[in-house]
Amino acid sequence: MTFPLPHGLPGLFIALEGGDGAGKSTQAALLCAALESGGRTVIRTREPGGTAIGEKLRSLVLDHGHGQIDARTEALMFAASRAAHVQQVIVPALERGDVVVCDRFIDSSVAYQGAGRGLGAQAVLDVNLWATDGLRPDLTVLLDVEPAEGRSRRTTGAAAEDRLESEPDDFHARIRAAFLDLARAEPERYLVLAASRTPEDLHRSILGALPRVSA
Ligand SMILES: Nc1ncnc2c1ncn2[C@@H]1O[C@H](COP(=O)(O)OP(=O)(O)OP(=O)(O)O)[C@@H](O)[C@H]1O
Ligand SMILES: [Mg+2]
Repeated sequence: MTFPLPHGLPGLFIALEGGDGAGKSTQAALLCAALESGGRTVIRTREPGGTAIGEKLRSLVLDHGHGQIDARTEALMFAASRAAHVQQVIVPALERGDVVVCDRFIDSSVAYQGAGRGLGAQAVLDVNLWATDGLRPDLTVLLDVEPAEGRSRRTTGAAAEDRLESEPDDFHARIRAAFLDLARAEPERYLVLAASRTPEDLHRSILGALPRVSA
């Protein structure tokens, strides 16, 4: 079964979402390699970042040492980074017919700033839909991770944690619940997988979901 592409462009847009340490980057690498070996042109990218201005915003918003950043400013910085990323990278790739595999997208803002920082899911979604001119992924893979599991997977140690990773477990529990709420609201656009499964097993499930969104 195929679903209409929400953006109407010839490419395929896949987002990987989930809490810190869920395995997003691991699955992005496996997925891109599989798609490339199948002959597709793949753009692997990440948020925040993905453009020169976006990478600068990423370090401003994630690194410690820039002084206090209130929740609305944080949300707008992520949205600004995303606007640049969509205009400069994602839409041109989708227009060419490429596959875009993006490590985090709007759902991360809804979860971290909407639920984690308490700005409200709808408000953060609205700001981001404006920033992206309504662009949504064809498929969002949610790697559902328990906060303690995600934390234990991070090998860098507390000193190397960024501003969001270093928040306590209840912040990460709110984020997990918000991701699951988004997936429940639009089940046809989501693949929800328990992040505790092995990387190879998760990869097989992600590949298995692709026919659902690619013609
Ligand atoms: N399915 C898995 N089972 C066990 N460990 C995993 C699994 N997937 C990834 N890992 C390991 O967990 C750690 C975090 O994985 P990864 O960097 O892919 O997560 P991430 O979601 O991209 O994290 P971040 O949010 O910090 O970018 C890595 O050490 C990785 O090797
Ligand atoms: Mg990662």
